[in-house]
Amino acid sequence: MKIGVFDSGVGGLSVANAIQKDVPSHEVIFKNDKTHVPYGTRDPQEILGFVIPIFESLIADGCQVIVVACNTVSTTLIFELRKRFTIPLIAIEPMIKPAAALTKTGVIAVCATPTTLASDRYAELKSSYAKDITVLEPDCSDWSNMIEHQQIEASRINQRIQRVLDANADVIVLACTHYHWIEEQISILAYGKAKVLQPESAIISELKRVLARLG
Ligand code: DGL
Repeated sequence: MKIGVFDSGVGGLSVANAIQKDVPSHEVIFKNDKTHVPYGTRDPQEILGFVIPIFESLIADGCQVIVVACNTVSTTLIFELRKRFTIPLIAIEPMIKPAAALTKTGVIAVCATPTTLASDRYAELKSSYAKDITVLEPDCSDWSNMIEHQQIEASRINQRIQRVLDANADVIVLACTHYHWIEEQISILAYGKAKVLQPESAIISELKRVLARLG
């Protein structure tokens, strides 16, 4: 079966690689939007216009399921996209629920793009699962651009992570797939103080359920 994986840029590639490794008998087709990346500071309606033709081309290529490997798109546009496209769309979302279940200090940090943090879906996740805990949202607005262009200023990232560790966060959620590429750097800094969560294994489990259903 052909599995489409979409992101604005290189973030989704980390997800596509993890999927291909886990389900090697299926073909993963990864597409991104090199012209308009980064999405994380753009308006959702503008992003919708970029995403539709890419999804159409994944479907034209024969994909029977698409993994939306972009929190920015999933948290703002998944309902509109599901209305428009009838094949299963698997949405990556900020892992607020598992983070809230894991924290012992009652403080978690969510690293995400400004558009994700401003979304209704993100607000809903927080009010459903994180009402009684403190959710820190460090400014990561320049991270996807740095990562996309391989111009990572480690000290800027470390400074923001150090700040949430100092504020007692014991779970750090990577809620932008671009940040999967700096997971190791963040995990080293957080070692012994905070767990770092990212959604690849949860997404692969969900994908396998969908693949079994599609037969
Ligand atoms: N990788 C995307 C996400 O998960 C978007 C990053 C961007 O384009 O700014 O949110």
